[in-house]
Amino acid sequence: MQADADPNLIVYFGGAYVPLREARVGILTHALHYGTGVFEGIRGYWNEAQQELFVVRPMEHYERWKQNCGILRIGVPNTAAELSAITRELMRRNGLRTDVYVRPIAYKSAERVGVRPDDEDSFALIAMPFGAYLPSDQGLHAGVSSWRRIEDNAIPPRAKICGAYVNSALASDDAKQNGFDEAILLNESGQVAEASTCNIFMVRKGKLITPPVTANVLEGITRDSVMELAQRELGLEVVERPIARSELYICDELFFTGTAVGIAPVVRVDHRAIQDGVVGALTNEIRTVYFDAMRGNNQRYFKWLEPVYRSPDTQQQNANSLQEAHAS
Ligand SMILES: Cc1ncc(COP(=O)(O)O)c(C=O)c1O
Repeated sequence: MQADADPNLIVYFGGAYVPLREARVGILTHALHYGTGVFEGIRGYWNEAQQELFVVRPMEHYERWKQNCGILRIGVPNTAAELSAITRELMRRNGLRTDVYVRPIAYKSAERVGVRPDDEDSFALIAMPFGAYLPSDQGLHAGVSSWRRIEDNAIPPRAKICGAYVNSALASDDAKQNGFDEAILLNESGQVAEASTCNIFMVRKGKLITPPVTANVLEGITRDSVMELAQRELGLEVVERPIARSELYICDELFFTGTAVGIAPVVRVDHRAIQDGVVGALTNEIRTVYFDAMRGNNQRYFKWLEPVYRSPDTQQQNANSLQEAHAS
């Protein structure tokens, strides 16, 4: 899925809340020419029964973003807690009462020609309505890409660097042209790394297996949530180890994880059905516990969620307007 945003959507740009149509960058912006930006992706899930929007693990996302910005020496002046508060404020200003995707982006913003970056940095936050990224209820057909995953010593894949996503775009486009729903990339050692925008897990002999963080993958926050949920809620053993391509063909179950996709089952790889070609039982269980936790239906995982409408800042705003009303 691709999301086109309403030009009147309020975004945070240049330190202010402005309509999207006014948030513009110049044609000579460094990041546009050289890919020198770092972005993030954060989810908000709407809970209809509770009439609440929950932001998923915003502190972890903003801390990862700030660390990754450090790899490119891009400075983001605000703390993770401040960025999280701006995110909730954006959602309230836009009256978002649906599933949401948040896109923070920090970039080298000097407008001049020359690849060496200087110290002029900017950032923006966008929060927009966003449904399912890859409709995957029936399971996806993935293809192993002929494009290899970028190496840490070339462009660190853990950092969500804008220019690095040319690698994902090439693989994703190629997969589409070849009739697949999504691409799986191998790293330069020939082992499974990840999909174009998600991490990968396979089930073999009752164990949940995923490549280690040194396999040229993004250190996914969904990956981390799934590992904890699988161990605590389903009692599964989780193993981080290299995965060979041919294991994808003979595994018991396969799925992708990521902020945008959530948990996306894979039922075919390279025209080969995984087992009987239907969504696996453990995958279904993991999906259920994942979405329950992220939509605010499992108290044990409230630690990961920040409510938008019942948040302390809303209560403070309400208290302030009450005080103002009393004073006038
Ligand atoms: C290349 C890549 N791998 C994995 C992921 C999943 O990471 P996360 O679960 O933190 O969204 C993403 C998306 O952010 C990604 O772009």
